[in-house]
Amino acid sequence: MTLPPSYSLIADDMKAVDAVIRARLHSDVVLVRQVAEYIIAAGGKRLRPALLLLAAGAVGYRGTHHHELAAVVEFIHTATLLHDDVVDESNLRRGRDTANALFGNAASVLVGDFLYSRAFQMMVSVGSMRIMEVLADATNVIAEGEVLQLMNCHNADIDVPSYLQVIRYKTAKLFEAATRLGGILGGVPGEVEDGLAAYGMHLGTAFQLIDDVLDYSGDEAETGKHLGDDLAEGKPTLPLIHVMRNGTPEQAASVRHAIESGGRDSFPQVLAAVRASGALDVARQHAQSEAERAITALASLPPSKFKDSLLELAAFAVARRF
Ligand code: IPE
Ligand code: IPE
Ligand code: MG
Ligand code: MG
Repeated sequence: MTLPPSYSLIADDMKAVDAVIRARLHSDVVLVRQVAEYIIAAGGKRLRPALLLLAAGAVGYRGTHHHELAAVVEFIHTATLLHDDVVDESNLRRGRDTANALFGNAASVLVGDFLYSRAFQMMVSVGSMRIMEVLADATNVIAEGEVLQLMNCHNADIDVPSYLQVIRYKTAKLFEAATRLGGILGGVPGEVEDGLAAYGMHLGTAFQLIDDVLDYSGDEAETGKHLGDDLAEGKPTLPLIHVMRNGTPEQAASVRHAIESGGRDSFPQVLAAVRASGALDVARQHAQSEAERAITALASLPPSKFKDSLLELAAFAVARRF
């Protein structure tokens, strides 16, 4: 599966963003360069910068700040990945050893801090208090989301609204910021900006719902991540919540036990319960309805190729295998 055709519309812009990323990665500190370049060179979908560029295009932005800001959101995303893989004790990302596996936890955390603070230097250079407000708020909410998730680990009694709050905070908030920034750059009226933000929020929610599905059903060659990382950390994601509510008593008990104890030993039984109970389809349907809400949120946006691409990415967030 390759990236959606939407990306071809912004191919030149994405090259410019890549150049900004490379230039701004610079540090005189060798280990900073090594770790940051290691994770950036592995690629990734660059979905958040793409969304910012498409949103800016959809509102007719003609300036020059979009490349810098697209690089900012990718840096914030990359910083969260460096930290997340330490917390999740993950050792495969983007088809390679994680930075923590290769360079250690301390280097990953500290270079994550470098990327966050570099992102803040870059956004200051754009010189807009409103833009800094959006990005500062988003970064703060992401941190809250990761801490909330930590608090929920090993809690088999979590309800769906609490799960949704975690994914809105840790993942959807940055998507929301990316698309809102496109609108702010274009100087659109408040309701259009809010529509773009709502689109990003619902798309990001769908995206994380599918990420949680792929943790049980993905092909590691495509996702570039190990299956079962969520269970190993005792993360009660929607597929597991579904089994505990709707599975047989045996399935529910097996999942509850696995969440409470963590580790990988019970992955095969949990996987069987998740598959047999239809939990993955339920989570996919939830993602689909979030994607539909994302599409609805774009109603006030005038027709354009950029808008078509945003609509296409909402479908991609659900259909994706990587
Ligand atoms: C991974 O994000 C973290 C989540 C929010 C699920 P992506 O799936 O966008 O990661 P890359 O950048 O493409 O590797
Ligand atoms: C997304 O959650 C984490 C961030 C927003 C950084 P996951 O823990 O599910 O992400 P992956 O699966 O490791 O990419
Ligand atoms: Mg993780
Ligand atoms: Mg995941």
